[in-house]
Order: sequence, then C-alpha cells, then structure tokens
Amino acid sequence: MISAAIAPIYLLGFLGKYFDPVADSFRVKPPIRKMVNLSRDDLTSTRTSSPMESVFGEFDIILCRNVLIYFNKELQNQIMNKFLRSLAPGGYLVLGISEPLGNEVEHQFSVVNRKNRIYKKRMM
Ligand SMILES: C[S@@+](CC[C@H](N)C(=O)[O-])C[C@H]1O[C@@H](n2cnc3c(N)ncnc32)[C@H](O)[C@@H]1O
Repeated sequence: MISAAIAPIYLLGFLGKYFDPVADSFRVKPPIRKMVNLSRDDLTSTRTSSPMESVFGEFDIILCRNVLIYFNKELQNQIMNKFLRSLAPGGYLVLGISEPLGNEVEHQFSVVNRKNRIYKKRMM
C-alpha cells in the first residue's frame, strides 16, 4: 500500500524502477542495495589518507554536500586533497552550493557545472 503523501511522486513512474515505497518515503530496491558498500569515515582523520574502500579501487564520484562548511581552511584543504587522491582520473566531485574547491586543488579539476559545484578530476 502506497501512502497518499508519496503516491503522486511514485505514480510518475521513474521512481518505481529503483525504489520501493515504504511508509511516507522510499527505499532503494534490494538489487541496487547489494551493489553498495556503506562504511563510516572521519574526513578529518590524519590516520587515513583516503577512505579505506579507495585502497581497493578509486572512486568514480564523490558527493560531499554541506560538510566542508563546518571546517576551517586548513581542514578543508586537507579533505580536498583526500578527495583528489581517492578519485579516479575523470571522476566527479560534487560539493555544496557554498563550497568552493579551494586554491590547492582547483587546477586538478575542470568545472562541469559551476553553479551546482560539479567538478571533474583531470586525466593527468
Ligand atoms: C549538514 S549535514 C549535510 C548532510 C547531507 N550531505 C546534505 O547535504 O543534506 C553535515 C554532515 O556532515 C557529517 N560530518 C560532520 N563531520 C564529519 C567528519 N569529520 N567526517 C565525515 N562526515 C562528517 C555529519 O555526519 C552530517 O551528516
């Protein structure tokens, strides 16, 4: 049974392909969930140079919205360098609207969409 609150959205069709309706929300369908590894990472940690998962492969995309705004410039640069190391060449980085790349790494990225802070790591 689909809740009346989300029925209009669900009935649009495209959500049904990847999401199951659950109460007043949606849950990613099991076949998609099986492809996802969830883990915790402290972005400010100096003990890891990149999230553990990226030791086994580089990330194609990093979504990090509205997190950097809580850190000072030094930590922001440290985190941006971590992202740079963790991304595959040609990988995408998506930041929050008020979160710029910063001087230290900006030459390593091309701008995909400035307004929405979408960047692409240069191929080297
Ligand atoms: C304002 S919320 C943004 C959540 C989401 N990205 C969004 O745009 O709605 C800030 C998030 O930063 C996470 N965060 C804060 N400090 C962190 C750290 N040191 N390492 C990783 N994540 C952290 C918090 O857990 C929280 O989920």
